[in-house]
Amino acid sequence: VEKVSAAATAGGPVAANRKLVLVGFMGAGKSSAARHAAGRLGRESIDSDALLAERLGPIEDFFDRHGEPAFREHEESLVLELLDRPEPAVVALGGGAVTSERVRAALAGHVCVLLDVDPELAWKRVRGSGRPLARDHERFMRLHTERLPIYEAVTRAVVPADAPTLGSALEATLSLADADVPRSVRLVWAATSSPPHGYPVYAGRGALAAAGPCWPAGRPFVIADENVLDLHLRRLRGALAGAGDEQTVTVPPGERQKSLAEAERVLRALARAGMQRTDAVAAFGGGVVGDLAGLCAALYQRGVPVVQLPTTLVAQVDSAYGGKTGVDLPEAKNYVGVFHQPAAVFTDPDLLSTLPVADLRAGFAEVIKTALIAGGELWRQVLALQPIDRALAGSPEEVDRVIERCLRTKLAIVAADEREHGLRAVLNLGHTFGHALEAATGYGAYRHGEAVALGILVALRLSERELGLDPGLRDEVAELCARHGLPLSFAGPGFDELLARAALDKKRRGPRSNMVLVESPGEVVTGCEVSEEELREAIEELRAPAAGRSAAAAATEGERA
Ligand SMILES: NC(=O)c1ccc[n+]([C@@H]2O[C@H](COP(=O)([O-])OP(=O)(O)OC[C@H]3O[C@@H](n4cnc5c(N)ncnc54)[C@H](O)[C@@H]3O)[C@@H](O)[C@H]2O)c1
Repeated sequence: VEKVSAAATAGGPVAANRKLVLVGFMGAGKSSAARHAAGRLGRESIDSDALLAERLGPIEDFFDRHGEPAFREHEESLVLELLDRPEPAVVALGGGAVTSERVRAALAGHVCVLLDVDPELAWKRVRGSGRPLARDHERFMRLHTERLPIYEAVTRAVVPADAPTLGSALEATLSLADADVPRSVRLVWAATSSPPHGYPVYAGRGALAAAGPCWPAGRPFVIADENVLDLHLRRLRGALAGAGDEQTVTVPPGERQKSLAEAERVLRALARAGMQRTDAVAAFGGGVVGDLAGLCAALYQRGVPVVQLPTTLVAQVDSAYGGKTGVDLPEAKNYVGVFHQPAAVFTDPDLLSTLPVADLRAGFAEVIKTALIAGGELWRQVLALQPIDRALAGSPEEVDRVIERCLRTKLAIVAADEREHGLRAVLNLGHTFGHALEAATGYGAYRHGEAVALGILVALRLSERELGLDPGLRDEVAELCARHGLPLSFAGPGFDELLARAALDKKRRGPRSNMVLVESPGEVVTGCEVSEEELREAIEELRAPAAGRSAAAAATEGERA
């Protein structure tokens, strides 16, 4: 049996006994997932907790009699022993096994998958089961927070517990582990309710290189942002080498390209290039190209797969996932579109190195939004981050972690509510005013993220009145916006014009209702009613005085002119 070192797993030789190891918190369903996966992959399934119970008797009795350290010692030696066995089995590992350094070192030679479970759901499943570490709710939650980064440090893939397409997720993980791709690239499985019920997101530095070996479908027909193609054509070609000869349609940069006229131009170019139903669209660019290409893919011959290759911060943390595609009308933003889930997403933060600072900063607004929705660790990370351009240059691994947490937050929300019947609306935080400002200024004066940042400040002001939000949070967010070069005030359209656009915003059910407001980081409320007067007050507070408009807004308009 050939043993592999941690370094060798970065696309190096594959150990004959390489196992697929499921790790994760108690209640994630690792044992049944391992049995299911083993059946599908034609491998043996091994359950470390069941083997330990055979050796030690009931685990809770052993724990109570001898204490946790003695239990961990037995667990460590059993796990090391079974990881060394010659057969390439599927192993379900007890929730605490990864706390051993020796176990973590041994896992480097295998392929680990985190079965990610919502801790409240896990608690419901295991409370009252007699498990020694599931007797107290607060301690259980604390343990989950402590363990999550340890699981993440050893895993090559993150798959939601109970994903209906677990088998496909694990097969994709094994393909990634076999590919010549840096170990920094992790697979995050997106669960969806519509067929095919899940798709892989490859995230991390070097992810674009995974596109060739992990290409999900057909010949690639690339729809690319002109700026991005100029900068990254060679890289794209190299990445897609394994996916077949690509054809490319370029789109000029800017929100104004998100139009029906541009969609028609792209569709006709695809037809002239000979695209067939068995081929796939690849969207190479930011949110504009992602939304436009996604719509074209959904329409072309009644639907072909779309692969997202996001190149902006907005696209990498938000727009590339979840299947919302569409274009704007002069009357209102995103007014024409369909849901069309991607076949795969390759999220490579390396591509952000060429993104103009102003676009990077604008993207940070979606990061703030996602962190407000998620709360917890992501909110803490975002509060601590230095200005995004400096962070990207100085501590890129921190930015990568934030991007991955944001995308996992978005995927979890979409998995729970794919068609926006409820929960998904939280993602519209800051967007009612943001979209109104974009539309009222002709999609040229403010970047999407800049408009969203202002929209978040409006929502927080309203949250203070409606939900009694602590004003300290608005100060914190304003400080974050200032730190990351986002505008704190706007100039231009009058309130009546903005209100008319906001009323047209499709997310509004009535003139006053359906604002997304914030109770605290992690507690976001949808469908809130606010009066026109309250809205006016909150918006007018952000209007820059005629003579001294905010430097950011002035600079933005200057750049666009
Ligand atoms: N579908 C969704 O769920 C969703 C979610 C959020 C936002 N959106 C949409 O996303 C759009 C905004 O996206 P965006 O902010 O990415 O804007 P964008 O696509 O216009 O890109 C911004 C600018 O960056 C340039 N660029 C892109 N990548 C680059 C790179 N790597 N190097 C150099 N330049 C690069 C582009 O040419 C463009 O000039 C809006 O239309 C918004 O409605 C959609």
